[in-house]
This record gives sequence, C-alpha cells and structure tokens, in this order.
Amino acid sequence: MTKIRINTSKPYDVVIGGGLLEQAGALIAEAVKGRRAVIVTDDIVNGLYSEKLIKSMEAAGFKTDIFVFPNGEESKSHKTLIELYDFLGNKNITRSDFLVALGGGVVGDLTGFAAATYLRGIDYVQIPTTLLAQVDSSVGGKTAVDIEAGKNLVGAFKQPDIVIADTDTLSTLTDEIFTDGMGEVVKYGMIWSKELFDLLKTGKIKENLDYVIEQCVDIKRQVVETDEFDTGLRMILNFGHTLGHSIEKFYNYKGFSHGKAVSVGMYIITVIGEKAGLIENNISDELKQCLIANNMPFEAEIDGTSLFSGAVNDKKRFSDTINIILCREIGKADIVKMNIEDFRNIIGG
Ligand code: GLY
Repeated sequence: MTKIRINTSKPYDVVIGGGLLEQAGALIAEAVKGRRAVIVTDDIVNGLYSEKLIKSMEAAGFKTDIFVFPNGEESKSHKTLIELYDFLGNKNITRSDFLVALGGGVVGDLTGFAAATYLRGIDYVQIPTTLLAQVDSSVGGKTAVDIEAGKNLVGAFKQPDIVIADTDTLSTLTDEIFTDGMGEVVKYGMIWSKELFDLLKTGKIKENLDYVIEQCVDIKRQVVETDEFDTGLRMILNFGHTLGHSIEKFYNYKGFSHGKAVSVGMYIITVIGEKAGLIENNISDELKQCLIANNMPFEAEIDGTSLFSGAVNDKKRFSDTINIILCREIGKADIVKMNIEDFRNIIGG
C-alpha cells in the first residue's frame, strides 16, 4: 500500500494498492469523524463491490445506507442529484454524517458535488474503481454535474477526506473503460514526466500499473498543491481536453469516450502547434507512437469549424481569449493565452 499526502487547504491521503476494499472501513475510520455514511454508486459497480465495502465498513463500526443510480454519463445530471438530495433528506443525514463515492468519474463527481452542497457541505470519501478516476478525477477536489449546455458546467471545489484506490478493481474493467483512463495517463507523461512517458511508450502499462497510478497521482499532487483552485498551473491538466471536448460533443458523447477524445485532442493540438510554429521540436510523431502502443486513437473525422466551435464554448474560454495547453517538449507543458480569432486561424475553423 502506498500513501500520498495531498496538502491542499484540507489535507488528505490517497491510498493506492491491491485489496484495499477489504480495509476500507479501517482506513475511513482514521480519516473521518462521522460514523454514519451513505454509499453512492452506480448499478454496475454496485453488483461488483458494494457488498465488500459495506462488510468492511460495518466491521469498522459504521452504519451505512446505499444510493444506486444507472451507470453512465446521462446520470451526472441535476435529476440524479435531486434524487440523491431527497434520499439524504429522507434518511435524516446530518452534518456529522458523510458520503462515500464508490465508482468511476461520474459517481465521484456527482457525489462530491452533493457533498459540497448538501447542508452547505458534508464530508466525503472517494473510492475510485476505474483507471480514469484513480489517476485523475478522484484527486484534487473538482466536483460537478453536467447541464444541457455542456459537461461539468455546474460544480464546486470540495476536497475528499480520503481517496482509497484499490487497484484490484481495475481487473474487472472492460478494455474500453480501461483504455478510457489511458488518455489521462499519457497526458501526465506529456505534461510532466518524460520518464513516465518513456515507460508508456513500451505499452507495458498493465505490468506497471500500481507504479503508473502512483506517478500520475503524485504529479497531480504537485499541480493541485500549487494551484488548488485552477487559476494557473492546474490548467495544464487540460492538455488535450479543449479539443477533446469538441470531439466528444461532435460525436454526441457516444462515438468517443472522454479518454479517447483527449487522446485525439492531445495529438491534434500538438500537430497544430507544430504547424503554426508554436512548437519548435517535432514531438507529435513520438506522441502518436505512444498512443498507438496503448491502443489509443490519434485521429477523428471532424472538421475545423466543429473543432473550433466546440472549443470556444468550453469552460477554458475567457471572453475573447482562450488558454491553450501546449507541450513544447515531452514532460513539459505551457499555458498559451490566445486571441479567439488567432485560435480560429490555426485550427482552420
Ligand atoms: N481533471 C483536471 C483537474 O482536476 O484539474
């Protein structure tokens, strides 16, 4: 078991390793004061891991209830959120109780947002069960729900009290869901660590899984400790995301998963940056080889106009400028503030 301390405004541990669900009750007991919890999960994860978690929590003296909603991004909505608030209200959940998010990014983001807002804030625990959630979304306190106008447009910063990443849970992921997390993993190599990137280029992720997750979480730690509230450095975590969101939207959130869209987004922005002379070194070929080695896509059928319009409607836009994240060398990212019209020109929108 590895523990990484995240020193944000509220410090907490991220615990990474195999067999942690069985120890979850004891780990949570050390991290939260409350003894009554509502576990929030989706119907797929519920069938796989709820029983084990409840057993471990009850053995540690917790009283638990469980709220289950249908798996999928459609559930990250105000409808599910209101149902969850009502559930908490009907169970008389108080400020000394807490929530446990058991699942992937949708479960974590929605539960975190409920914890940030119910009774103006109660504690919560993250138990991420997908690669994407373990390396990225469960750490750093970004919580959100989607609205019609876009993903994650309503949210809050709310750090969890502990993150328990049981790497055994990744063994039940389909190749599709596992690969979804690889977009974020390659991102961490690109923005911060050439050493991680070089390991990923070998395609041997499953052989080095715990190490790779630890590396990603440690990179995220350094970023969020420097910029918890996303006003500077943290924006580099959006490498590949601005165009990735355009791609996800263009395909109606069905053709490309988030991770695959980020994968294409990282490659396109790097190629565009090279063509526009913003990146001097040729790194796009190396990135492409790394993506291929990890069964990730690097291209999508999408025109420049759709790429541009999806990107400028994104959260990263500020009035008439947009922050573009570029890697000018592998392992190093820059935030480039660009006029919207200049961005349109380089994208070909
Ligand atoms: N997933 C990006 C961030 O946490 O800032």
